[in-house]
Amino acid sequence: MSRIDYLERIPNNVDLAGNRRLQRALEEWQPKFLDWWMEMGPEGFQAADVYLRTAVGVDAQGWAHFDWVRMPEYRWGIFLAEPEPQRLIPFGDHKGKPVWAEVPGEYRATLRRLIVTQGDTEPASVEQQRHLGRTCPSLYDLRNLFQVNVEEGRHLWAMVYLLDAYFGRDGREESEALLQRRSGDADKPRILGAFNEPTPDWLSFFMFSFFTDRDGKYQLASLAESGFDPLSRTCRFMLTEEAHHMFVGETGVGRIVQRTCEVMREGKTDDVRGRGVIDLPTIQRYLNFHCSVSLDLFGSEISTNAANFYTNSLKGRFEETKRDDDRQLKTALFPVTTLDGERVVTRDEPALTSLNERLRDDYVADCARGVARWNQVIARAGIDFELTLPHRGFHRAIGAFAEVKVAPDGRLISEAEWDAHHREWLPTDEDRAYVASLMTPVTQPGAFAPWIASPARGINGQPADFTYVRFTP
Ligand SMILES: [Fe+2]
Ligand SMILES: [Fe+2]
Repeated sequence: MSRIDYLERIPNNVDLAGNRRLQRALEEWQPKFLDWWMEMGPEGFQAADVYLRTAVGVDAQGWAHFDWVRMPEYRWGIFLAEPEPQRLIPFGDHKGKPVWAEVPGEYRATLRRLIVTQGDTEPASVEQQRHLGRTCPSLYDLRNLFQVNVEEGRHLWAMVYLLDAYFGRDGREESEALLQRRSGDADKPRILGAFNEPTPDWLSFFMFSFFTDRDGKYQLASLAESGFDPLSRTCRFMLTEEAHHMFVGETGVGRIVQRTCEVMREGKTDDVRGRGVIDLPTIQRYLNFHCSVSLDLFGSEISTNAANFYTNSLKGRFEETKRDDDRQLKTALFPVTTLDGERVVTRDEPALTSLNERLRDDYVADCARGVARWNQVIARAGIDFELTLPHRGFHRAIGAFAEVKVAPDGRLISEAEWDAHHREWLPTDEDRAYVASLMTPVTQPGAFAPWIASPARGINGQPADFTYVRFTP
């Protein structure tokens, strides 16, 4: 295949045309990826023309390329952020040495595992969201869903590039395995718990994009600090896409909250289930669920793996280069909220083994800023209600709190109290059935389902009634 063809099919800035070995690996992988996309990608819309953004370069112009695309023809490219000249390893035992352009032999297995774990989440979310197009609340939202989906596909490409380019034969085997696991499958599940949960409705989708894509942001940000430079540069570019996913989540939930508040005001009631919108307590229960399963993604409070990733200069902290400590943390301490027998306590632990908790702290603070913006919408409507993040011990399956029951306000409670109250805290079957009952598709340009407000502005400056998705007859 000629150079021009290759750049056309797989836009990239990794000199794919000059790397025969990588070309061959990707030529073999690409048809399998497309088979996976047709089998597990957006169901019912593979022939539709979608107004999508495609990355064709890493500068601002290459980024802002919008066009009509059928999703299977999307040009999934491979982009690394521009190299930082003379970049030095910012943390850990190798701090201050030049970054690695190749995989250091002693860290090969660890790095491969980190890349595979990140890579596995990307196709997983596409699988989780594959039926949502059938119930879209508008063409605007449908297009945003598909934008997120194709970009998660591109994130998979990004991780497969690293595996194929730097890990030889076992890297290629891992690339294949990424297409073989399936979200929620009992026999071959995705690696991480939250990525095996169903995403059955649009409230779940927006909550997922707000909470679970944000975990992605924090994982990518700490991998962007890595001493292995190709990983760092890959993750830095992925972060620019992740920002859009969280925008979709935050504004999606915000628009649902706004619509609910409008109906509450009009009807002078908080009993809005008969009025076609989602009541605030149900939104809170969905929030509790998605927040808690996303908190699990950060791992155990105390983790020697996390310490080793850091000491080996493979995975840093969030905004590592902005920290003004020694960036080795051998003697430093960090306050960790955990269990002490029957009590929730915060106590100092070695900073190195507490790195998961530190990242979780950064994440929770970021989530809280988004929740505060939702609460502004409620307050502006003059309604006396506040959405809150659940305590980090609530409904956890990983770490110290997995052993006990914790209420959303942080109280340690008995099994009996949990049994008596969990229906107030987590989505019930009735909640899910009610939300599902609202999910009827709206596909007229400019129209929105009655349970969600229209967005403040269109995508890429397009007017309110723009046809973001064209269906083929
Ligand atoms: Fe992603
Ligand atoms: Fe994402």
